[in-house]
Amino acid sequence: MDEVPQLADALPLCASDPAWLDTALGDLDSVHADHLHCERKAAQSALSLIRSYPERADLVDAMARLAHDETRHVIQVAHLMARRGQPASYDHGDGYAAALRAEIRVREPDRLLDRLLVFAIIEGRSAERLGLLAGALDDPRSRELYEKLAVAEVRHRDTFLVLARDAAPKVWRRRAAELAAVEARVLAERPVAARIH
Ligand SMILES: [Fe+2]
Ligand SMILES: [Fe+2]
Repeated sequence: MDEVPQLADALPLCASDPAWLDTALGDLDSVHADHLHCERKAAQSALSLIRSYPERADLVDAMARLAHDETRHVIQVAHLMARRGQPASYDHGDGYAAALRAEIRVREPDRLLDRLLVFAIIEGRSAERLGLLAGALDDPRSRELYEKLAVAEVRHRDTFLVLARDAAPKVWRRRAAELAAVEARVLAERPVAARIH
């Protein structure tokens, strides 16, 4: 796969509602508990692409590495929660991701493109919000962790965009813009909550 090019302009995500950061800072326990599951699900999503497309060597390599990153993030968030003496919680579902997944078309090759772009959007949104937390947390160790995680999620977003570009060079930008607009609607329709999404 190429070095990461400047692809973010293909995925014009809106800014989060300014109320989100205050809500998140007001209930960090819930944010961290949700974040643990976000990292776990990101690893599972990457591995699910390997299951579906084992013949795509670039994808297999990139997704195996990405899943590795995400499982490392699970460990880091779990350690943060342990340091805070915070209880874990079960995953109560993710309406945001489910609403985006509902946009994934069933037939190939559209399906591959849509899966890559939906995952790029989720990574991009995670990066934005982890970065907002990094800029606002009081605890220096938490801040440092969130800064590093935000950088990693930007890299992951670009990994998915490169794969999307290579999978569908003629249409990926148009579809990315469509799905970014869908994501803005999904966010606007959902209540602001102390979760990553
Ligand atoms: Fe991650
Ligand atoms: Fe990620």
